[in-house]
Amino acid sequence: MTDLLTPVERTALLTAALRAAETLREDRLYEDPYAARLAGEAGLGLLAEIRAATFPPNAPRSLPSTPDYNAIRTRFFDDYLQEAVRNPAVRQVVLAPAGMDSRAYRLGWPRNTRFFEVDRPNVLAFKDARLGGVAPRVAHRAVAADLTSPDWEERLIAAGYAPDEPSVWLLEGLLYYIPEQDTRRMLARVAALSRPGSLIAADLVNPAALTLPSMRGLLDVFAGWGCPWLFGSDTPEQLFAEFGFDVRAVQPGDPEADFGRWPDPVPDRSVPDVRRVFFVHGHRR
Ligand SMILES: C[S@@+](CC[C@H](N)C(=O)[O-])C[C@H]1O[C@@H](n2cnc3c(N)ncnc32)[C@H](O)[C@@H]1O
Repeated sequence: MTDLLTPVERTALLTAALRAAETLREDRLYEDPYAARLAGEAGLGLLAEIRAATFPPNAPRSLPSTPDYNAIRTRFFDDYLQEAVRNPAVRQVVLAPAGMDSRAYRLGWPRNTRFFEVDRPNVLAFKDARLGGVAPRVAHRAVAADLTSPDWEERLIAAGYAPDEPSVWLLEGLLYYIPEQDTRRMLARVAALSRPGSLIAADLVNPAALTLPSMRGLLDVFAGWGCPWLFGSDTPEQLFAEFGFDVRAVQPGDPEADFGRWPDPVPDRSVPDVRRVFFVHGHRR
């Protein structure tokens, strides 16, 4: 069944494999009891390729540690989403894209929360089959749509999303795979669906992460799979502001996004030409 997934769709199995590996660690930052079944053999294979590139046996690591990054990212956005719904007005959660994310199944959510998982049809069908009837812990709606298609908003609304009610959006593990033009179009469309006060979070890399020779080993793995990294920004605050979102950007290793796990220095934002990855979070003006 993994044959039906395109390369970028298969990256959802990689993130599931990363979460399965994290779940086995004694010092894990979270527990995802569904990750192993969602990742399957294919996910383990993808993770093995990332590990081989990142941790060469006879040389020091020069690439960022994808396992630590993913652990911090998952925990950071777990906490972010849970905090968001502490506001009783926020009762709509949108994961765009959802991939093999299991937050609807592994975390508790306030009553009346509507939890939307948007991803391409084959990904959601694959996930449904792998979960094999596990019950979500929230009113869960799968929205099979391509986020660059002309009509995904209609599908989201048909699934019960109300644009006039506050929401929290998470664009996790997506923006590096889509070209800048599509990223901008998507942010404009998310903004149009978000009433003032709604929340947004995302992760994205910077342009140096797409071009520095020291990133080659990791970039080559993704390009070799057929899903090269395409977009990055050094000024995510400005990018999101253009679409009406006031956001902060933190980097893994910053005090609020470290969890004792980021293994590398975090260069100050004023240092040019270093690879960066950002967790963006903020609200719709
Ligand atoms: C790395 S996974 C991240 C999934 C999930 N957010 C997570 O962190 O586990 C990337 C996901 O983006 C989805 N994706 C990529 N391009 C998309 C598009 N144009 N429309 C909808 N989903 C897309 C893929 O299908 C895949 O599930």
